[in-house]
Amino acid sequence: MPESTPRTTLVTTKSALREHRAAMDGTVAAVLTMGSLHAGHLALVERARELADHVILTDFVNPLQFGPGEDYEAYPRDLEADLALVDGLVDLVFAPGVEEMYPGGTPRVWVRTGEMGSVLEGTSRPGHFDGVATVVTKLLSLVRPDHAYFGQKDAQQVAILRRVVSDLDLPVDIVSAPIVRAADGVAESSRNARLSAAEREQAVALSQALFALQDGASREKAEAQLASSPGVTVDYLTVVDPATLEPVDAQHRPALALVAAHVGPVRLIDNLVLEA
Ligand code: PAF
Repeated sequence: MPESTPRTTLVTTKSALREHRAAMDGTVAAVLTMGSLHAGHLALVERARELADHVILTDFVNPLQFGPGEDYEAYPRDLEADLALVDGLVDLVFAPGVEEMYPGGTPRVWVRTGEMGSVLEGTSRPGHFDGVATVVTKLLSLVRPDHAYFGQKDAQQVAILRRVVSDLDLPVDIVSAPIVRAADGVAESSRNARLSAAEREQAVALSQALFALQDGASREKAEAQLASSPGVTVDYLTVVDPATLEPVDAQHRPALALVAAHVGPVRLIDNLVLEA
């Protein structure tokens, strides 16, 4: 008889999560998500499965990380579809309601991300990274994973979460999964689907600017080139210290190069770790 794949358990309360977690032997990896699972999440799950004996996926749309006027209410939620996608691939899905996560309403104590959370993407989303850091700290404390997986596409989030873990001495290893790129260098993103064929070609300029920095171009030169690319409106192109997100010289290594730009109606972000 063929062996049957163990099914995934769904839990929605902290107490049930703790109970299941306590019964797990060996190493545990966490994949933290806001649901609406797609191929990018499945790639994280795949990596997590390679490294750990058990995988716990959290599925929670966190109100703390949405600012006023952002799309918290409209954010897509489809737990059934999410469960169908990861069934048999993860041991457990933790999908709490807002009341379960924040029983007293908005918490009084938050994890503050300071300067790291107010630059780059934080400029247009004040408080966003404090909301992320607060919920991730709670989820890590509940799940107690050995490893926690995040996509490198959100490089600022990864840098901040690494800092949260080191500054608060949380016993977890943050693993970032590399950006998946198309053959022309464009970073895969669900937003690419909103680009016309012409805009999709114009979007190549973003990764080209990052690769130019990797090859030793000055930031000013790479930015001028990007700004002169047809259809591209640059928001920022910057090189920062990966541990602090403070700007560094473009020749500094290791460094993190980040870009955000509008191509047609779509705002795209991309980044590249600049190795020595
Ligand atoms: O990247 C996300 O999906 C969210 O910011 C996270 C890390 C799950 C926290 O809500």
